[in-house]
Order: sequence, then structure tokens, then C-alpha cells
Amino acid sequence: GASVEVDISSLAPGELKVVEWRGKPVWIMHRTPEQLAELEQIPGLADPASNRSDQPDYAKNTQRSIKPEVLVAVGICTHLGCSPVNVAKGSANPSVPADWPGGFFCPCHGSTFDLAGRVFANKPAPTNLEIPPHFYLDDSKLLIG
Ligand code: FES
Repeated sequence: GASVEVDISSLAPGELKVVEWRGKPVWIMHRTPEQLAELEQIPGLADPASNRSDQPDYAKNTQRSIKPEVLVAVGICTHLGCSPVNVAKGSANPSVPADWPGGFFCPCHGSTFDLAGRVFANKPAPTNLEIPPHFYLDDSKLLIG
């Protein structure tokens, strides 16, 4: 399939952009320093080190990314394929835990993921969100695929 080139120079901290790659939505999110710090200390993840989850070796780290601040993830729930939504920290959404650190919520059966796409334990999704193959052509140009 064709690779997709994305210019991320205008993606502001906290902003999420969706592009299509091989018919799938791919999220590109510019995480803030606060959000990155939070990723280091999130309890209750099902696969915190992503050992059972699908990502390239270069994304097998806490942030699950090449550039720490830029998440590139397939926006399809690993349970039955619904589209999770971005739910901000401090949201009044009753479906997320009271100490919700911000992340992604799947409305179909309630799986919750952190801002690295890591699934919380005791949720139906078995693994973290998929990280697609990608690399940077330069500082702001990303190639997915
Ligand atoms: Fe996402 Fe079931 S499809 S929780």
C-alpha cells in the first residue's frame, strides 16, 4: 500500500490530527510535557511495556513513539474495531475513572487507553493500540507506511 506523508509542523501541543493510511484512521497527536510526564506513572495498564502489543521496535518505549511528544497510532480499538475518542484529563465523562489521566475511550464496550495507546487492565481490548510503521523525512515531515 501507499505511504502517506504528513507535515506536522502546525500541530500544536495537545492537538490531534487524523490521516487515512491503507483505509485506516491514523492519529497523530502532539503530547504536552505534562502529558508525557503522566505516561511515566500510569497505574493499572494491561501491557505497560507493550510486550503483547503491535508496534515497530523503534516505538517500543514508554511513549510508544520515535519523537517522545508525537504519538502515531492506528485509531482502531483492538477489541472489535470501533473508533475510540480522545477524552481529555478532567473530563466529566462518567465512563472514565475519576483519576483519568487523559487518553482514548472506546464507546462500544468501554475500553480505555492512555495517551500512548496503552490499554487499561480489566477492559475488553486485549492489547494496546497498534503503532504503524513510520519515520521522519525531516524535522516536521512524517512518512507513515
Ligand atoms: Fe472497543 Fe469493544 S470495540 S471496547
